[in-house]
Amino acid sequence: MNTPLRLRLAGFLLLLAPTTLATTPLYAQDYPPDLARGKAVYARDCQSCHGDKGHGDGPAAASLKVSPADFHRIRSFLKSDEELLRTIEHGVVFSPMHSWRGQLTDGEMQDVLAHIRLLSQQGP
Ligand code: HEC
Repeated sequence: MNTPLRLRLAGFLLLLAPTTLATTPLYAQDYPPDLARGKAVYARDCQSCHGDKGHGDGPAAASLKVSPADFHRIRSFLKSDEELLRTIEHGVVFSPMHSWRGQLTDGEMQDVLAHIRLLSQQGP
């Protein structure tokens, strides 16, 4: 009596597993983002190229062959969080934008993205 019930339960869980996997977002968000941490990460790792307000005009930008992204531009603004996170995580080939995987945790990448989104919504 016990065994079939357990088996039925196991079967049910097996059925459930793929659905849960499919609905879990690629980057599970730690809501709410820690904006203070995002700002600190940005100031430390990103501002030199992307600029304090995110216009891609940081002090290091002038010496780069590829200009850092201006997060206020519609091209960046319209990209999804996943798209921008992927860039932060993996970098852009043949560009000074390298991968931050290994240097930043998933949480830090999400927080810094939240800071970028905030910058891009603020005026010039
Ligand atoms: C050495 C300079 C440099 C640093 C430091 C840097 N970036 Fe970048 N970043 C770039 C450049 C250059 C590009 C544009 C690449 C391209 O378009 O080919 C870019 C692009 C991006 C994009 C893609 C924007 C879009 O519209 O697709 C994101 C997001 C981004 N950077 C986030 C960050 C974050 C977050 C940090 C800090 C953790 C950071 N970057 C640090 C140079 C830098």
